[in-house]
Amino acid sequence: MTNILEVKDLCVEVDGQKLLHGIDLTIPDGEIHALLGPNGCGKTTLMMVVMGYPEYRVIQGQILFNGEDITELDITERARLGIGISQQRPPTIAGVKLQQVLDFIIAQAPKRVDEIDGLVRAVHMERFLDRDVNADLSGGEIKRSELLQLLVTQPRFAMLDEPDSGVDLEALSLVGNMANALLAKEPGQSEHRKSGLIITHTGQILDCVHADKAHIMLNGQIGCSGPSRILLDKIRKYGYEECIRCILRRREE
Ligand SMILES: Nc1ncnc2c1ncn2[C@@H]1O[C@H](COP(=O)(O)OP(=O)(O)OP(=O)(O)O)[C@@H](O)[C@H]1O
Ligand SMILES: [Mg+2]
Repeated sequence: MTNILEVKDLCVEVDGQKLLHGIDLTIPDGEIHALLGPNGCGKTTLMMVVMGYPEYRVIQGQILFNGEDITELDITERARLGIGISQQRPPTIAGVKLQQVLDFIIAQAPKRVDEIDGLVRAVHMERFLDRDVNADLSGGEIKRSELLQLLVTQPRFAMLDEPDSGVDLEALSLVGNMANALLAKEPGQSEHRKSGLIITHTGQILDCVHADKAHIMLNGQIGCSGPSRILLDKIRKYGYEECIRCILRRREE
């Protein structure tokens, strides 16, 4: 089986501060992994560096996408290869309307306009199309806007940063449906999936979207990996404090 993503011994710094310390992470093609971890451990940093944001400087290690070394590629080249993200806190883009972004994406890869219209209606985003991207949107509306842009783009590999944070229970089910639609290979065929990485610290989204495996990040390192259901149950029961103790115990053995 090929690996869609291989991160090898990755060390990253931002503004001279080292944030990731030797990350190893492999996601086989067709698998969806979850990245769990407490606030500030480096989850968003890892996603941004895989996407290629220039302020995140790789000082050691490699990122391979579908077997190709992309460590030196810029963000546009990575997007063209099929990497897409939904950001935790995307910026407001003054002067650019959501409709213009969707039109731009559609022009890159023409799709039937009525198909996109149906999608916009299904995720209740019609009234935001004429607004500047993310301007005056609630937290939950921003998550839907990000996922809508990804659904129209259809990346081969999607990374979703905290799609469940700040989302009420009803909206969580809509966000979960959007994520499942995004990760389905063909519309309505949920058993054949694309590859993805879902970042969450509460794990709520994993009640709606099945993850094949989970990784726990602590202080800029992957401390532990395993079946997502088992790791999530442990975190819910004992908290990240127990993860830290467990990892330290294993390192001493
Ligand atoms: N541009 C930056 N300059 C300096 N420090 C930064 C920068 N970006 C992130 N950090 C720091 O790096 C650490 C990791 O941040 P990151 O956003 O990756 O954490 P996270 O795991 O996504 O947290 P959360 O669950 O709160 O979203 C934090 O301590 C943060 O303050
Ligand atoms: Mg984050």
